[in-house]
Amino acid sequence: MFSTLTKAAPACSLLTRSFSSSAQRNAKVAVLGASGGIGQPMSLLIKQSPLVSHLSLYDIAHTPGVAADLSHINSRAKVTGHMGPDQLAACLDKCDVVVIPAGVPRKPGMTRDDLFNTNASIVRDLADACAKVCPKAMVCIIANPVNSTVPITAEIFKKHNVFDPNRIFGVTTLDVVRADAFIAEAKGLDPAEVNVPVVGGHAGITIIPLISQCKPSVSFEADKLDAITKRIQEAGTEVVKAKAGAGSATLSMAYAGARFTFSLLSAMNGKQGVIECAYVKSSETDAPYFATPLHLGKNGIEKNLGLGKLSAYEKDLVEKAIPELKGNIKKGEDFAHKS
Ligand SMILES: NC(=O)c1ccc[n+]([C@@H]2O[C@H](COP(=O)([O-])OP(=O)(O)OC[C@H]3O[C@@H](n4cnc5c(N)ncnc54)[C@H](O)[C@@H]3O)[C@@H](O)[C@H]2O)c1
Repeated sequence: MFSTLTKAAPACSLLTRSFSSSAQRNAKVAVLGASGGIGQPMSLLIKQSPLVSHLSLYDIAHTPGVAADLSHINSRAKVTGHMGPDQLAACLDKCDVVVIPAGVPRKPGMTRDDLFNTNASIVRDLADACAKVCPKAMVCIIANPVNSTVPITAEIFKKHNVFDPNRIFGVTTLDVVRADAFIAEAKGLDPAEVNVPVVGGHAGITIIPLISQCKPSVSFEADKLDAITKRIQEAGTEVVKAKAGAGSATLSMAYAGARFTFSLLSAMNGKQGVIECAYVKSSETDAPYFATPLHLGKNGIEKNLGLGKLSAYEKDLVEKAIPELKGNIKKGEDFAHKS
């Protein structure tokens, strides 16, 4: 009984990520799209971090209510709500981290790319405001299609001559969280102790779990490996179908978005050895953006840890993903150039 109560939290739990740093950094974190299905629960989680002194919420609707509600929680972050484009600059002023879940989610039968027409312009306009008001902030893009919205953000930052590839991230943490959960379930392990890198992009076949690098080491027969890989790739669609028209993953994404934010804040705050996968500007493959494990530090990406040793099965997955990724990236870049 005593040992259970005193057992340290597993290394990768959300609370450990949020509360382990000894020094307290006064970070201002903005959530753009804060009133949405992801935005609200993610803001609730971020409000709990002692590393955050100001949580700044922006949306085109309902932010005064969301901010008033969260501001009654007795954790240290001050909460402000900002609604509509006139209030966006105030939301972003002096921000250290900006997390962007603004945009429409999928309905059954839709791919993430089907969201492009609506979400590309939303992300472009929000990125434009970030480039103008807080060009040094870490920008974390959740809005889909991530494979294209990250290149859009980068191109907008380039237009303003403030692009720093170490500070713009496509949040793929949910793919890692799902891979950890599904493998733990299949192998009877504690999910909090499982760590599977997921590389590539964030849609269908571009999502590539590197199960050969799983810690602890696990092995599957070929057909089971293929089945669990496909389940990880299609996990978002599993949720879209189950929600039957009411949206896509929100609660698990809020958890994953908060985890990525806490990892980033801890690294910015000087914590050593913080590693997360994310979709970033990359020279690891032929695709100009690619998710790999990243060593995070005070200025964002400290070191891209690359793909590591791949199995023959994983090499094949990477090769098949690259043409699709390149197409998604070009689509985003072309859109940003035309805008
Ligand atoms: N990266 C991932 O792993 C991942 C996982 C799940 C969902 N998503 C994506 O996240 C996005 C949000 O999903 P959701 O379920 O929260 O959707 P939602 O519709 O519940 O919420 C979106 C919010 O964005 C706001 N919004 C719309 N236009 C805006 C603008 N111009 N400026 C600011 N806010 C604006 C809306 O008012 C709404 O509150 C979708 O694009 C979805 O596909 C990404």
